[in-house]
Amino acid sequence: MKNQGNPQNSISTGLGDQNRTMETILETQGLTKKFGGLTAVDQVDIGFRRGIITAIIGPNGAGKTTFFNLLSGLLEPTGGEIIYKGEVITNLSPEERSQKGIARSFQLTQIFPALTTLENVRVAAQSRGKSSTTYNLLTNAEKYGQFTNKARDLLKRVGLEEEFYTRAGNLTRANRRKLDVTIAFATDPEILLLDEPTAGMAMEEIPEVLSVIENLNREQEELAIVLIEHNMDIVMEISDTICVLADGKKLAEGTSKEIREDERVQQAYLGALR
Ligand SMILES: Nc1ncnc2c1ncn2[C@@H]1O[C@H](COP(=O)(O)OP(=O)(O)OP(=O)(O)O)[C@@H](O)[C@H]1O
Ligand SMILES: [Mg+2]
Repeated sequence: MKNQGNPQNSISTGLGDQNRTMETILETQGLTKKFGGLTAVDQVDIGFRRGIITAIIGPNGAGKTTFFNLLSGLLEPTGGEIIYKGEVITNLSPEERSQKGIARSFQLTQIFPALTTLENVRVAAQSRGKSSTTYNLLTNAEKYGQFTNKARDLLKRVGLEEEFYTRAGNLTRANRRKLDVTIAFATDPEILLLDEPTAGMAMEEIPEVLSVIENLNREQEELAIVLIEHNMDIVMEISDTICVLADGKKLAEGTSKEIREDERVQQAYLGALR
């Protein structure tokens, strides 16, 4: 849901968005991570809302990936709390968070190259325990069929229907990225964390991957999407709200216009946003 030109309101409700709840689904309070003497994430308070795309930007070493690692449970914070749907989840394991609906793309590392595209998504769809109550009355064959159908549907939605039976290792780079996002999405997440989904891609490949993310945002009204992104053109185009990290601290938060005009942000980027 891209903000349609109301600078006062970063969650402006355009046509078709009236029913979006936009409630905060996940928030951090004073979240801090120290590596020895280095404070990589420093007292960060951020809230992520359903139905919108939030971009996290910041110079190299700002703490963006560390922040995602704290959210997904790969790292334990030194201080602060993470609250998901009203519950403190600061000490839950990555698996427990994933079961609760927090999904993260891992820049290709979660793809099994020897499996087909379809198998990769089916395996991801099966991994979400939430489904087990629904499926535990079914036979293995039925379960397998249901997850395969779900994987087919998801892959059609991202335009990978021609690639069902291609080994993931043989996909083009753009298609592997789409698969990466689809795998994260196959777990039925309520919040999707994407770390530089277009990193290393050729300019002409980027729009395809962006449209996958934009379609998810359009079709899944309750889904919160958070992406770390370096390319400012992409950030300005795709995100409803932007959060800037610098030296581990939250420097600013707002619409693309507000962020572009923010002097502290301009200083942190040495004018790169002008
Ligand atoms: N496991 C670790 N041990 C020690 N220091 C770390 C570790 N992970 C990250 N750091 C340091 O923490 C700081 C933040 O790193 P992080 O990777 O989170 O930044 P980033 O904003 O994602 O940067 P980039 O834009 O380059 O991806 C950096 O100074 C980095 O060197
Ligand atoms: Mg990073």
